[in-house]
Order: sequence, then C-alpha cells, then structure tokens
Amino acid sequence: MPQITVINQSGEESSVEAVEGRTLMETIRDNGFDELLALCGGCCSCATCHVHVDPSFKDKLPEMSEDENDLLDSSEHRDENSRLSCQIPITAELEGLKVTIAQED
Ligand code: FES
Repeated sequence: MPQITVINQSGEESSVEAVEGRTLMETIRDNGFDELLALCGGCCSCATCHVHVDPSFKDKLPEMSEDENDLLDSSEHRDENSRLSCQIPITAELEGLKVTIAQED
C-alpha cells in the first residue's frame, strides 16, 4: 500500500496509507481531513476536492480531462500543480506522493 503525505490547509503534514484502486480523494477524505469537502462524491462536478500535487509526480498521474480542467478554472487557487483528487486513482507508482489540500474558494 503506497504511503502518501497529505498537507492540510494549515500546512501540517500527515502520512497516510493509501489503498490501490481507490481514489486520492477517498484516501484523503477517509483519513479524516474534513476540509476536503468532496461534495459531489467523486463525479467530477464540484471542484471541492482540489489539491496541489507534488510536481515530481506529474507524469505518474492520468491526463486531465476537459471537465476537470474546466472545473479547476473556477478556482482562484488554481496553479500548475492543481488537480481534482477524485480523478486520481491510487497506484503503486504514487508511493511517496506529497499532496496539499487547496485553500477553500
Ligand atoms: S469530489 Fe467533486 S469534483 Fe472531485
């Protein structure tokens, strides 16, 4: 099971165990990070699962869909490392990933 580091909106780091086959959003949410609202439950329609992903993992992540891109555009906290965590499946390759929960819009 890949170990990932989650940085909350206050900048505190926690190490969590991720389960392959689940999504990054589920991993963060189910480890008690209430600030990741994930209001739509993972169907790519709310953008409240916005995270900033360690740039060194960029090529291990799936391509961004047009829908994800459009939704991220609605966030004023978007940067070049922004992703919607519900669109990222956990794989063994994500061992050591660092992910920061985006500030709320
Ligand atoms: S949970 Fe709604 S877009 Fe990810």
